[in-house]
Amino acid sequence: MNAERTFVMIKPDGVQRRLIGKVLQRIEESGLKVVAMKFLRVSTKMAERHYEIHKGKPFYEGLIKYITSGPVVAMVVEGENAIENIRKMVGATDPKKAQPGTIRGDYAQHIGRNIIHASDGKETARKEIALWFKEDEIIDYSIDDEKWIYE
Ligand SMILES: Nc1ncnc2c1ncn2[C@@H]1O[C@H](COP(=O)(O)OP(=O)(O)OP(=O)(O)O)[C@@H](O)[C@H]1O
Ligand SMILES: [Mg+2]
Repeated sequence: MNAERTFVMIKPDGVQRRLIGKVLQRIEESGLKVVAMKFLRVSTKMAERHYEIHKGKPFYEGLIKYITSGPVVAMVVEGENAIENIRKMVGATDPKKAQPGTIRGDYAQHIGRNIIHASDGKETARKEIALWFKEDEIIDYSIDDEKWIYE
């Protein structure tokens, strides 16, 4: 198994709508493994660093307000092909285009309230994990069912 790590965040609307359990259940049941997790209120500075790439876009200010509007669940998720697998599970950015069966397709209606974030590639995953977690907050461990999840 070629383990890969990705950064995932349940956004403030996901927390407010009591969807933490449902989102975690999907991640866990898929066989992916949570290797770091914290519950926190995001500072404006942190939000600006996380969404730096969108600076200057028309939705940027609303996006920073949204992400800082309440607590979030931040986590690192590990597994084979984790980055792409989670993006598929999350669904299209705009919930109107997200397929049923995806998190956004099932729980969200609007692009500015789309429940969850997941890194979009290897380089972003590396950067985002380093931004949100210290190295010693990420736990290397195995789960006994892994021989039934990976050949
Ligand atoms: N047109 C828009 N109007 C309002 N909000 C938007 C718009 N486009 C993007 N956003 C918000 O900015 C976030 C980041 O946009 P991005 O293009 O990176 O999409 P994404 O990678 O699917 O989402 P995320 O980075 O949150 O996982 C979106 O998830 C959404 O919350
Ligand atoms: Mg993105």
